[in-house]
Amino acid sequence: MSVRMAPPLPLILLLMISGVSGYYWGWSVSYSPSHICALKDSTVIMRCTYTYPTGYKIKKVFWTKGPIKEGVELLDLSNDPEYSQRLQYLGDKQQNCTVRLSHVTLKDSHMYYFRFITDDPGGKWTGAPGVTLNVTDLQVESPKRVTEGDSVTLRCKSSCALTDRATFIWSRNSQPLTERRDRNNELLLQSVRREDSGRYSCAVDGHTHISPAVQLNVMYPPKSVSVSISPSGVIVEGDSVTLNCISDSNPPAEISWIKGGTIVGSGRIYNISKISSDGSGEYKCKSINEYGEKYSDNVTLNVMYPPKNVSVSISPSGVIVEGDSVTLNCISDSNPHAEISWIKGGTIVGSGRIFSISKISSDDSGEYKCKSINEYGEKYSDNVTLNIM
Ligand SMILES: *[C@@H]1O[C@H](CO)[C@@H](O)[C@H](O)[C@H]1NC(C)=O
Ligand SMILES: *[C@@H]1O[C@H](CO)[C@@H](O)[C@H](O)[C@H]1NC(C)=O
Repeated sequence: MSVRMAPPLPLILLLMISGVSGYYWGWSVSYSPSHICALKDSTVIMRCTYTYPTGYKIKKVFWTKGPIKEGVELLDLSNDPEYSQRLQYLGDKQQNCTVRLSHVTLKDSHMYYFRFITDDPGGKWTGAPGVTLNVTDLQVESPKRVTEGDSVTLRCKSSCALTDRATFIWSRNSQPLTERRDRNNELLLQSVRREDSGRYSCAVDGHTHISPAVQLNVMYPPKSVSVSISPSGVIVEGDSVTLNCISDSNPPAEISWIKGGTIVGSGRIYNISKISSDGSGEYKCKSINEYGEKYSDNVTLNVMYPPKNVSVSISPSGVIVEGDSVTLNCISDSNPHAEISWIKGGTIVGSGRIFSISKISSDDSGEYKCKSINEYGEKYSDNVTLNIM
């Protein structure tokens, strides 16, 4: 591909043959550096010098971009709306062809060429190959899931090695990380903690471009598992009671509920609507995820209820003969314990769970019952008959 329009071929041959090739070789453009890797949004300076034989006068200088196609007119980038606002020629019309391109985007990645045209119809030159511009953005490379205690390395990746010296800076949840040591483009998290979870992004000091944020998710087994009870005060039969298992873990744990060694439910909330006296007991929750499991301490549910199943047992159970010792026992279920009183034919004759009559006489014959009472209610037993022989 011929992009220079220095003396036409027959003339070159003629010149070379005639030993004045220095005239031809006087045409040149050089770029320093010839490859540039620049960060998105930054300003790039493409340094450039050019030479041509003495005697020529420069009429026009401009920059163009590849690809160069044979027979296609080379476009002056300062006439290209995509470039005109951002391109500034810093060179001159003698030998310096340096140009500045600001706010570079990934789309600016091309090969760029400097071209100059002299007053001589044959004196045109395009400096090929040109200067290669690669524009890169930054991407954080991070493991998606890490476990507490792991050593984790985050990398700030660019698609090419930045030409300018770069100091990488990091942030988590948009807060700069100052205390962390980084090595080149790496951020080392030694023995990662759950507080290190967050959205990480990187940038290069002195540049506006920031990488998209990447989520680092630190996994850990359940910690600090506890149970809260609602309502928090006294629980009476028929109340609705809610147990809440509070557990810290990542990912969220599966919760199950255990009462006295038996699994009774699952899910963070364990609801008992209309609790019965059977609901009393020791409850705990178990929190488990793929990294471990933990139990809460026991919590005690103490359900209050009025007396029920009140009955009287007589001892001895057989025939009772005058002079025997007889014991009446009031059996009653309640929470808290009930006060017991004994009634014979409408009159209170004693108190306490056990009613003893030593040396029973015929006067003691009759119908007995006990009354069981606590703060939640009262209940009478059926009558029992003492028939003394
Ligand atoms: C060319 O011009 C640029 C911008 O003015 C300057 O920084 C550079 O030093 C010059 N190069 C030479 C070789 O004179
Ligand atoms: C919790 O309650 C269960 C069932 O009553 C009992 O076996 C266990 O020892 C209790 N655990 C603690 C830590 O008190």
